[in-house]
This record gives sequence, structure tokens and C-alpha cells, in this order.
Amino acid sequence: MINLFSERRRPGLVVVVTGASSGIGEATALRAAHEGHHVVLVARHEDTLAAVADECRTAGAASAEVVTADVAVDDDVAAMVERVLEVHGRIDAVLHCAGVVSYGRTEDTSADDFAQVVGTNLLGTASVARHVVPVLRRQKRGDLVIVGSLLGHIAVPEMTPYVVSKWGVRALARQLQVENIDLRDVRISHVSPGSVDTPIYDSALDDAGGVNTPPPPTISPERVARVVLGQVGSRRPGAVRDVQTALTNYGVLAVFRGAPWAYDRLVGPVFEIASRRTGSRDE
Ligand SMILES: NC(=O)c1ccc[n+]([C@@H]2O[C@H](COP(=O)([O-])OP(=O)(O)OC[C@H]3O[C@@H](n4cnc5c(N)ncnc54)[C@H](OP(=O)(O)O)[C@@H]3O)[C@@H](O)[C@H]2O)c1
Repeated sequence: MINLFSERRRPGLVVVVTGASSGIGEATALRAAHEGHHVVLVARHEDTLAAVADECRTAGAASAEVVTADVAVDDDVAAMVERVLEVHGRIDAVLHCAGVVSYGRTEDTSADDFAQVVGTNLLGTASVARHVVPVLRRQKRGDLVIVGSLLGHIAVPEMTPYVVSKWGVRALARQLQVENIDLRDVRISHVSPGSVDTPIYDSALDDAGGVNTPPPPTISPERVARVVLGQVGSRRPGAVRDVQTALTNYGVLAVFRGAPWAYDRLVGPVFEIASRRTGSRDE
């Protein structure tokens, strides 16, 4: 989606991308590299990050550095931010894409899976904010772009920890916007993708042993990356910086909010056909 308010970004920004080893984060890192920025790639696994770093250098990054961190571990996030400041002396943008998903009815979801999804998606975002916002405020400038989800606005069956975490992430982003309204050039943005074709569906925690696919219509991670990076330096007026990545999101939101009696009856069967097949992954 075109951001009419975005400034032309000069190259050479220090851009930190979490979840940079796959899907939306990887596409975002490559786009930032293509624009000639310094990219810092964050996720848990060094080998996959190293491969993306090589691609970023080839794509034109001013520099590409790998920092392994589990965003669910506050000390990891603190050390990551410290490392970026050590190397670059500033942070221009943090594009927070790391996330995980689980499937299964609420009562079938193990306590561990519930904690992992909420711990990564919601508490991980809080840790990123805890350590990044003070840097942006000290600098009096910079962007924190948080990737939420359309599922942070609606309810779907068999994804309770994810839905709860993403409603929480949206609330957190809104809190951060209110708390940072005093600094014009410190921007907190929240981006809500719908269905995106990425490996997240294969790596999902699944307490019902299902096989999951992105429900149509899907968009590409590159399209989401354009929206995420488009928030950096944006001059969108007002405090509400909540961006949907596709027009179809608005249709789903309209039914969820305007016709809940129909939505609640239809979402289960539609979701089952479009996204989820129960049974073994090997079938
Ligand atoms: N795909 C969709 O349809 C869709 C729709 C709406 C919103 N989103 C959101 O978009 C974001 C990116 O999703 P994606 O589809 O691109 O997923 P993906 O392809 O599975 O990538 C997830 C990334 O997050 C990293 N990650 C996972 N847990 C982490 C942790 N605890 N600490 C640090 N890094 C971690 C992964 O690397 P490691 O495993 O190496 O750590 C990987 O780089 C997520 O927040 C997701 O909820 C996705």
C-alpha cells in the first residue's frame, strides 16, 4: 500500500530488523539493504541470519551485521541494543518482525505453547520497546515499527495464544504512541498484515497436529516489507499509526465489527477450508 506521507529516505540509516532470517523480516532486511542502509539482523539462529547478511551485502547494504537474540529474553534484547550502539552509535529504526504462531483449540493448547507464543510476540515486543524507546527518546528521533496482525483486530478459532498476543501487541503499540506523543520525531507504528505467504505456517506450534497454510488471498512478504519500511520517516499526521497491508483486511474488519452474528458462525468453517486441515503433517 502506498504511503503518501513517507519521506524519501536518505541511505545510510541504521536499521535493526528482528525476525530477519525468514519471511517478512527477511524481505524487510533485503529492502533496507537495497536502499543502502546499515542493517542489523536479529533472530535466534546465527547460520540463517548469516546467509541473509550475505544477501544484504550483495543487495547494496552499507553494512550488514548479525546479532543473535531471543526476543522473549529481556537480557538478550538489552545486549542486542547495546551491541548496535557500540557498533553504530545510534539507531534510526527498529523494524520488529519476530513472531511465532500456534494452532489448536484453547483447551487443547499446552501451557508451554501458550507461554511461548505470548512470551515471544507480546512480551518480546515489550522488551524491544523497553530497550529501544529510551534510545530513540535520547536521540529525539527514530522509528519503532511493530508488525502486529489483522488477527490483532479480530477473533479466529484455534489460534487463541496468537490472537491474544496480537491484540496485546496492538494495545502496546497504542500505549507507546500515547507515551511518546511529546517527541515529534520519535514514531511508533503498528502494521497489521493479513495473510502472507511465509514459512510461519510450517514452523507453527500445533497442539492438534494439523497442517496449516496461509488462507487466501495471500500477499507476498515483499509487499509487507514495503509497508513496514514505508513507515520509517513517515509524516502521517496524528497519533494513530495503525496500517493495514491490504484492502481485503478492511472487508474482514467490517464483517467482524458490523455483523458479529454472521462472522462468528462463518469464521470457523471458512477458516477450516481456507487455512487448516486436521490430521498428521505427514499425511
Ligand atoms: N505470515 C503471515 O501470514 C503473517 C500475518 C500477519 C502477521 N504476521 C506477523 O509477521 C511477523 C513475521 O512473520 P513471518 O510470517 O515472516 O514468520 P517467519 O517466516 O516464521 O519468520 C519469523 C522470524 O522470527 C524469528 N523469531 C521467532 N521467534 C523468535 C524469538 N523468540 N526471538 C527472535 N527471533 C525470533 C525467526 O527466526 P528464528 O527462528 O531463527 O529465531 C524468523 O526470523 C510475525 O510477527 C507474525 O506474527 C505474519
